[in-house]
Amino acid sequence: MTYNIALLKGDGIGPEIVDSAVRVLEVVAKKFGHEFNFTPYDIGGVAIDKYGIPLPEETVAGCLASDSVLLGAVGGPKWDTLPGNIRPEKALLGIRSKMELFTNLRPAKLYAALKDECPLRSDIVAGGFDIMIVRELTGGIYFGERGVREGKYGEEAYDTECYSRMEIERIARVAFETAMLRGKKVTSIDKANVLESSRLWRRVVHEIAKEYPEVECVDMLVDNAAMQLVRNPGSFDVIVTSNMFGDILSDEASQITGSIGMLPSASLGNTKRGLYEPIHGSAPDIAGQNKANPIATILSGAMMLLYAFGLTKESDAIVAAVDKVLTMGYRTADLAHGGEALTTVEMTDKIIENL
Ligand code: IPM
Ligand code: MG
Repeated sequence: MTYNIALLKGDGIGPEIVDSAVRVLEVVAKKFGHEFNFTPYDIGGVAIDKYGIPLPEETVAGCLASDSVLLGAVGGPKWDTLPGNIRPEKALLGIRSKMELFTNLRPAKLYAALKDECPLRSDIVAGGFDIMIVRELTGGIYFGERGVREGKYGEEAYDTECYSRMEIERIARVAFETAMLRGKKVTSIDKANVLESSRLWRRVVHEIAKEYPEVECVDMLVDNAAMQLVRNPGSFDVIVTSNMFGDILSDEASQITGSIGMLPSASLGNTKRGLYEPIHGSAPDIAGQNKANPIATILSGAMMLLYAFGLTKESDAIVAAVDKVLTMGYRTADLAHGGEALTTVEMTDKIIENL
C-alpha cells in the first residue's frame, strides 16, 4: 500500500525528531512492503520567519490532502514576544481545529526497563501503570472567548472555558469506546465543585456512561487527580478530561514514565487521517545538538500506523523495538541522569537495528 504523509517538522528539536521517525518509518515500509511518501510543510516559527504567519494555507491544504500528518514541535524564544494571534502555538491550535481533531490520545505507560527512571517510590509502581489520557482538543479555554479590557482594577485580560453538550458527548464516547478495549474503567476529571462547565461535563459524561454498562465510570476533581497520579497511578485506566486539564495532567503523567521524551500522542477526528505528535515541546535549549530523545516521535509514528492505516503488525514492531532497546539499557540524555547517553541519531540507529 502507498500512503502520503505530511510532515510538519516545526521548530527547535522538531526537525531532528521528525527525521528520526521518518527513518524508522522508511525501514518499516521496506520490511513490510509499503510505500510512504513524505511531503514537508512549514508550521510555527519557521513559517512566521518565511511568510509572516504561523500556519500558511498551503500547510493546511497539504495536511487535509494527505493520508496522515506527523508533527514535531513548534515555538521558541525567538517568537515568544509576538502577539497571541501570530505565535507559533497558534498554528498548533489552528491545525488541530482545521482538521477537526477533537480527540487527543496520550498513552502513559511504565516500560519495565524504565522502572529505575521513574521518580516514584518502587512500591508505588511495583504493579506498573498503563494510562490512556483522552484529552478534548478543540474546545474549552483554548478556544473560548478572550480579550483585554478595562476592568474594576484597570487593565485586565480574560479567557473563557465553554463546553457544549455535543463536544462533551463525542469525547466521552471516545473514552468509553477506548475503555471497552482496555481495562473498562473511565475516570472523568473536572472541577465540578467550582465550574459550571465542569458540572455540565459531569452530567453529560454520566449520560453517555449509561450506554456502556460494562465500563466503570468514576468522577474525580482535577486537584485530586493531580495527587492520585503520583500516589497511585496504577488505579487509572482511561482518563477523559478537558483541553487544559488534559494538557497539564499529561505532562505530569509523562514524568512518572521517566521522561516527557517518551510520550507520543494521536489527535483524531471523524476521519482516519489524524495528526501524530510527541506531547513534549520544541526544547529550544537542546535544539540542533543531536541530544533530544526521538522515542516520543517514533512512537507517534507507531500510533499513526495503527490508527490512520490499521497496520497493527507494523506498529507493534516499532513498539517492540523501542522496548528492546530500552531493555538493553540504551538511554538518551533525558533518561541517563548524567550517565552514558546516546545521541538522537544513535538512539534512532539502535531502534532501527532492532526492528
Ligand atoms: C501540548 C502543548 C500545546 C498544548 C502547546 C504548545 C500549545 O503543550 O501539545 O501539550 O497546550 O496543547
Ligand atoms: Mg502540553
